[in-house]
Amino acid sequence: MQTVRTLELLRNTLAVLRQDGGSIALVPTMGALHEGHLSLVRCARKAADHVVASIFVNPRQFGAGEDLDAYPRQLQRDSELLESEGVALLWAPAADEVYPAGYATNISVSEISEGLCGANRPGHFDGVATIVCKLFNQVMPDTAFFGEKDWQQLAVIRRMARDLDLTQPHVDNIHGVSIVREADGVAMSSRNAYLSAEARERAASLPGAMRDAIALLAGGDEAGRSLGSLQEVLLASGFDSVDYAELRDADSLEALDADNGNARLFVAARIGGTRLIDNMPVRAI
Ligand code: PAJ
Repeated sequence: MQTVRTLELLRNTLAVLRQDGGSIALVPTMGALHEGHLSLVRCARKAADHVVASIFVNPRQFGAGEDLDAYPRQLQRDSELLESEGVALLWAPAADEVYPAGYATNISVSEISEGLCGANRPGHFDGVATIVCKLFNQVMPDTAFFGEKDWQQLAVIRRMARDLDLTQPHVDNIHGVSIVREADGVAMSSRNAYLSAEARERAASLPGAMRDAIALLAGGDEAGRSLGSLQEVLLASGFDSVDYAELRDADSLEALDADNGNARLFVAARIGGTRLIDNMPVRAI
């Protein structure tokens, strides 16, 4: 695996990789890799001849007071993991390579990025759409892989690709990969490392509480009631606050007050300064 840190070297290395005519899949990450990220890489390997992974802690998607400085950085360990998964090329640029002096362009996807995490993290999805569009243009992959853990992020990226008529990759070649969970059901996240052992135990209540709420919804309870009791359960189980617990259409992300056959439950809740997010389909449970 080659690691490249400048755009010039990226272009040269990609040109060599493309010489055999094989397809290229991109897996964008911010590093601090875990099994969730590696499952994207494994799906990418099955779908394409060469996998390019990126590691870039994108300052534009962190709000004021968020964890940009504290975000875990462990490039050596990450690159060993990616190499052992058969990644061909690691793109790990420095911030000024991506946003040189005078950088002025922003991509903003309206509506779909406004609720849920967008409401609690103003500007976050602009930062995500902008960096992902840049990564697509830098690597020009045939396919790209994103985790369903960040369901709204995937929806925003697909909408951006569709609206801007991107072809590398085309919106149909932007793939979602199922959430990888810890043994106790908590969705894997680089941010779980912020939790103390005791806080991590409290976090374990989230997936079970979501499944209970889904059982109520599937049994015909109206969303307001089951989501209200979900919030109460989370607060009683040791979460300090709930940013949202909402039922949305899985594709449009429109708010729902009952299952429409395509409903998904979305939750973001905090323990201390750590924000956990999760989502589950209503029908499959
Ligand atoms: P990051 O949080 O590092 O996640 C990189 C990719 O891994 C995302 O597509 C995310 O959804 C996926 N992922 C994370 N945890 C997962 C899990 N438990 N199961 C399945 N997939 C999981 O998301 C970002 O970085 C950034 O916003 C990025 C898209 C790289 C743009 O900067």
